Amino acid sequence: MRNTIIISLLCSLCMLGCTGRHPHYRVGVSQCLDDAWRQKMNEEMRRELLLHPEIELSTRIAYGSNALQCAQIDSFIRERVDLLIVSPNVAEAVRPAVTRAYKAGIPVIVADRRVVGNEWTSFIGGDNYRVGQLMAQWIMGIQAGQREPIHVLEVTGLPGSTPTTLRHEGMMEEIDRFAQRQETLPEIASVMGSWYKEDAYKVVLEYLRTNKHIEVIVAQNDLMAIGAAEAVRDSKGYGKGSVRIMGVDGILLGLQAVVDGTIECTATYPSCGDLVIETAAHILADEPFVRDTVLETMMVDADAAHPMLMQYTARLHDLETMRIVQVNADQRWEKMKFERTVLIVVIVLVGLLFVVALGILLWMQTRLKTEIRKQILPQLEEVEQTLETIQLSQRDIAFNERMKQIVDDHLTDPNLNVEYLGSALQMSRTQIFRRVKTVTGKGPLDYIRERRLLRADELLRTTDMTIQQVALELCFSSPGYFTKCYKEYFGKLPSER
Ligand code: FRU
Repeated sequence: MRNTIIISLLCSLCMLGCTGRHPHYRVGVSQCLDDAWRQKMNEEMRRELLLHPEIELSTRIAYGSNALQCAQIDSFIRERVDLLIVSPNVAEAVRPAVTRAYKAGIPVIVADRRVVGNEWTSFIGGDNYRVGQLMAQWIMGIQAGQREPIHVLEVTGLPGSTPTTLRHEGMMEEIDRFAQRQETLPEIASVMGSWYKEDAYKVVLEYLRTNKHIEVIVAQNDLMAIGAAEAVRDSKGYGKGSVRIMGVDGILLGLQAVVDGTIECTATYPSCGDLVIETAAHILADEPFVRDTVLETMMVDADAAHPMLMQYTARLHDLETMRIVQVNADQRWEKMKFERTVLIVVIVLVGLLFVVALGILLWMQTRLKTEIRKQILPQLEEVEQTLETIQLSQRDIAFNERMKQIVDDHLTDPNLNVEYLGSALQMSRTQIFRRVKTVTGKGPLDYIRERRLLRADELLRTTDMTIQQVALELCFSSPGYFTKCYKEYFGKLPSER
């Protein structure tokens, strides 16, 4: 009984415990930077995760440091994450850590920027070479029809990262292709902005201060394009005429800058966070996936930027709504978790109380039994004995009455003896002896004699009969024997009465 209660209690606790939302896979995300483009990518990943509750993300940011990124990847390896997503800072520098993860059996998705080598599971990212080509085509569009070469300033990202290299290569090789058809080619100079707006602002301002004349700036991302635009604005007096600026990414800030006219255009560079998570889910579930995904890029001018911005804002609004819904759901979940914990505690306490109460009850029951055995049972036995005695004496009285009746009716009968009594009372000789002894305290012959002596006394007192006559009447063998018996019983002679 007690075991059943404890087992059912444990079962219900287990059932309550099992209803929790437990992710099955832990995925590490190693981000090289934390700029607006990457925040967009992170947001896309978080959104996609709503469809994959089995995945739990842990994100670490290297803030542009190769050493920190390698250390963070190594810590993910030590923690034995189920999958690693890496957006490498500098392709060559981060390669060893990525290789270590891959060789440790952790599937690796390289996102956005590539690493050198082939030791990764899947790659998803934009077409950086194509971005460079789009830059070149835009530049050549401006150059077209001008006799003098235009002056172009390229603001690059961090050297060594694949977008910096590929965008530059794409641009230069595309211009070379134009060279075969065009007479006039642009003059291209390069400065390094390291992906940051502030760095771009400084290097462009510095470039303009040295009185170098430029008509066009191509920045390898929107943030640096905006930084360059601010530098042009602040360099009034150094630069000559207006400068046309192109960015890359098509993030919210970039589209806004195009719509505002701060920069002239941008090339989209998809951040693909949703696709990365989708691929991770396929890999983790052992489902087929694409090993190398290169995403499309396109030019966005003021006309295209407007609807895109509206779409983007609407999407952000949707995302915000989703985020609020998620926060509410999470809060509700937390509340439910709290309520569940309270419920478990209450059930455990009630269960414990129940078990304790049951224990006390059983203990009391055992004690009561012992007490009853010790105290009440002897009393009961006594009562039973008394009852028995009462019943016995009632039977004895009845027996005595019957025997007395029979004896008294046959006092003058010389045949009145033990045998006679036995047959009259339907008892054996032994039974008669035992019974008469119990009831009267004497043997049956003594009893008969006593009854005869009492009748004799009565006759002597109430009639004129002589001692002799009385002795004979009551079957004494002789008057002498009667006298002897009378003296013994009454303590005096029959004549003395
Ligand atoms: C952000 C960023 C983007 C750029 C991409 C290339 O870190 O600099 O602006 O397009 O990385 O990986």
